[in-house]
Amino acid sequence: MNKILAIANQKGGVGKTTTAVNLAASLAGTKRKVLLIDLDPQGNASTAAGMNKGETNTLANIFFDQTPINECIYKSPDGYDVIPGGQDLIALEVSIRSEGKQTFLTKELKALEGDYDYTIIDTPPTLNQLTIEALFAASGTLIPLQCEYYSLEGVTGLMDTIQTLSDKNLSSNRVLGIVRTMVDMRNNLAREVSNELETHFSHLVFNTLIPRNIKLAEAPSHGVSGVKYMPNSYGAKAYLALAGELIRKVEYV
Ligand SMILES: Nc1ncnc2c1ncn2[C@@H]1O[C@H](COP(=O)(O)OP(=O)(O)O)[C@@H](O)[C@H]1O
Ligand SMILES: [Mg+2]
Repeated sequence: MNKILAIANQKGGVGKTTTAVNLAASLAGTKRKVLLIDLDPQGNASTAAGMNKGETNTLANIFFDQTPINECIYKSPDGYDVIPGGQDLIALEVSIRSEGKQTFLTKELKALEGDYDYTIIDTPPTLNQLTIEALFAASGTLIPLQCEYYSLEGVTGLMDTIQTLSDKNLSSNRVLGIVRTMVDMRNNLAREVSNELETHFSHLVFNTLIPRNIKLAEAPSHGVSGVKYMPNSYGAKAYLALAGELIRKVEYV
């Protein structure tokens, strides 16, 4: 079993990277074999995974230098493996398009099929070719969302794209669920939007709420996930609960 999951939302700052890193750590904590792929040129997930940006191989090395994928995989202190990201992914994005090499990532991941239980892909805050590569490769997508007034409007474009890929039989990807992030239930609007989500997308919303918690924001500067940095914090416990909910959703069907 290798469940390939994309973490996507073309809006920035909604908690994609935090969700990718903490889910990877939570799943690794259950003894599942996990690979985290950083597909964002900003490389935030790589930092949170304890990598020194610019000093590691990325997916771009596979594409441009024919580096074997195994030489792009590193160990994080959290117990999961990671393929780091970085600036050179910008050139990769352009070249995949200009050379017509779409589904490059899907093909590369075939070589790792038996090696992992979960592959988690963190994506950039745009619907560019890197994000599309993740959507092609994944069997499910998690959409982190902040409960604000306009937050759903951006998500419909992403959902349409996933549906189109699936309609054209280009991928078997489906939206696994929306994850409500940075939740502060003292905020009336957040509570309203959160309730609306439950009413209109009940089957698509994860029950677990990720609270706003400073420990989750502090952890990356220590090169670890919030789950490892402060396991008893509300944020860490929420991500552990989310991993449990995810496991029930994808493994017990
Ligand atoms: N639950 C949370 N509580 C507090 N801060 C958070 C939480 N989730 C994310 N953050 C912080 O918010 C910022 C944006 O989150 P990030 O995961 O990088 O979003 P994205 O990857 O979607 O751009 C980061 O500084 C991160 O540390
Ligand atoms: Mg990010």
